[in-house]
Amino acid sequence: MRRTVVRGRLEPVVRARGRRNPISQRLVPPPLPANSSCPPRRRPSVGTVITASRHVLRCVYVIATAAMPVLEVARPIELLKNRGWTVGVILSPTAAEWLDDKRLAEFTGCIVRSAPRMPTEDDPLPDADAVLAAPLTFNSLNKWAAGLADTVAVGNLCESLGTGVPIVAAPCVNDELRRHPAYSDSIERLSAAGVHFIDPDTVSRQDDNAFDWDAVLREFERHVGR
Ligand SMILES: Cc1cc2nc3c(=O)[nH]c(=O)nc-3n(C[C@H](O)[C@H](O)[C@H](O)COP(=O)(O)O)c2cc1C
Repeated sequence: MRRTVVRGRLEPVVRARGRRNPISQRLVPPPLPANSSCPPRRRPSVGTVITASRHVLRCVYVIATAAMPVLEVARPIELLKNRGWTVGVILSPTAAEWLDDKRLAEFTGCIVRSAPRMPTEDDPLPDADAVLAAPLTFNSLNKWAAGLADTVAVGNLCESLGTGVPIVAAPCVNDELRRHPAYSDSIERLSAAGVHFIDPDTVSRQDDNAFDWDAVLREFERHVGR
């Protein structure tokens, strides 16, 4: 039986115990226990879904940042869905400005995230079994390598390293930025941590911004399996 994931709602216990912030009118959650530094991640436990036919659907996060190929991100999502993956989409804030995330969600049927959740909200995405970071900007690549988790997209990339799921990344960075020392440092650091990088020259052309999503998917599958 396929389980669907719905955006999290306030739990009754929080409703009962919370109070309203007089400025935002949002519900303020009760204080966290003294030993917890950040709110718990409450994800739906449906990372792997077994259908009636016993076919196992796995969940992949497509984490996409603000380089031109993000405008075609529906393509890899479609390819992954056709191959039986459950796809969760996470956009950087700039990528979310470039795309209409609500329309993308309607068009693809996927949960699309970019904004941080409230402390009282559940994470709407199930746990990931694999991550595809594409296209990956110079900015997000370097933040990821440095551990600067200031966006939902980079925060999830940072956490994914800790969960040990396979991660495939397709940087989309021009030659000038690739000559910046941070670029090779970041690739080296993240590769050593287990990230599989796709050579940008094998999937992208800088003169016309062409990006070969099919080749990205082939490389993803070669690394992660189907
Ligand atoms: C039209 C346009 C195309 C861009 N293409 C790229 C690109 O291919 N690679 C890149 O690293 N940055 C590119 N940028 C710059 C990023 O969008 C910018 O650094 C942004 O802050 C990245 O934010 P993000 O990493 O959170 O998505 C482009 C910007 C614009 C306006």
